[in-house]
Amino acid sequence: MKVVPSKKMSLFQPAIFGQLKDYAKQQQAKGMKIIDLSLGSPDLPPHEMLRNHMAEKSKEATAYGYTLTGIKEFNEAVSRYYKRVKHVDVDPNTEVVQTMGSQEGLVHLPIAFCDPGDIVLTTNPAYVAYEAGIHLAGAKSYYVPLNKERGFVPDLEAIPEDIAEKAKLFILNLPGNPVPATPSIEYFTEVVEFAKKYNIIVLHDAAYSEFYFTGDGPISFLLAPGAKEVGLEINSLSKSFSLAGARVAYIVGNAEMVQILKELKSNLDYGVFEPIQSTAALALDNAEIITENLRKTFAERHYILMEGLQKLGWECAPSNGGMFVWAKYPFDIDCVNFVYKAIEQTGVVMVPGTSFGSEGEGYVRIALVQDKALLQEAVERLKTLTI
Ligand SMILES: Cc1ncc(COP(=O)(O)O)c(C=O)c1O
Repeated sequence: MKVVPSKKMSLFQPAIFGQLKDYAKQQQAKGMKIIDLSLGSPDLPPHEMLRNHMAEKSKEATAYGYTLTGIKEFNEAVSRYYKRVKHVDVDPNTEVVQTMGSQEGLVHLPIAFCDPGDIVLTTNPAYVAYEAGIHLAGAKSYYVPLNKERGFVPDLEAIPEDIAEKAKLFILNLPGNPVPATPSIEYFTEVVEFAKKYNIIVLHDAAYSEFYFTGDGPISFLLAPGAKEVGLEINSLSKSFSLAGARVAYIVGNAEMVQILKELKSNLDYGVFEPIQSTAALALDNAEIITENLRKTFAERHYILMEGLQKLGWECAPSNGGMFVWAKYPFDIDCVNFVYKAIEQTGVVMVPGTSFGSEGEGYVRIALVQDKALLQEAVERLKTLTI
């Protein structure tokens, strides 16, 4: 049989991570010690309280049915978390919809709001799932640049009037992947005004909202005046609570939009395993205790890597949070070749900036997913690069 993939399949990018891993393995076979800083998969274990709870809940004979949607316990915990930690009121009945991790939510959301040919504003560079969702809906991306001059937040003034008029959805991510810029209330307020003016739905991806190094942490988009009139925030338990394999996340915000998403979701799946939802509720209710260690650990890693690279003449995007360092290397070589040379000569695995968009040329994304000693060693090894 001749298997012919759909035309749509050609729009999805082959994952760079597999290719980098294969190349790293080849170098390892030649005796190179690998320090993998490519994938943003949390390396800290979930808090013991969460592991015990998951184990206990999984023993219950009644825990294995379809859950269909978020259980009451989960939605109420999301609401309490937003009130306590983000200072935002969220109605657990009408303003929360659960997803099977935020990737699932992000990839499906454009289907709920966009028709084929509609414009979605996203950033360049951006996390790759946004593009996948835009393609699935048959919509078209318009890339708002993230550049150094604007502090790596999407430049609203760079969006032409005719594009803004046609846009249906705007996807933002602060602190982001790959660029960990921090949002301000002034900036989010500008986004709300912009969205109201052009009737655009805003989706803010807050996957790294618990990753910050000083102060009170990145604010919620929903804190900006009028934000609930125009949009939604998606947040995940994967990074903040090291629950990446226990797939659970949620979208909060505008009740009408949440209702549309609930209808879409009811056609896609039958809900998340109940022990995962219950563990997620426990995590959210104990967020302050659980995430303290995460912040301390990632702040130390961040400063070690940033300062180390800066001493080598690398330019790192200023950041007060996130899980990554977005770094411009001081060599005249394109980022894909640079990354392969770095693996070959030093064993340090980083992701080429262009994997996230053309504006990433000259940059690499480095995930802070190894301990301090290994990050220090990575810097020492990168010092030896000869290009
Ligand atoms: C910005 C951002 N959003 C969403 C996700 C998806 O995370 P999950 O599906 O585990 O919630 C990631 C994962 O790397 C990410 O970096």
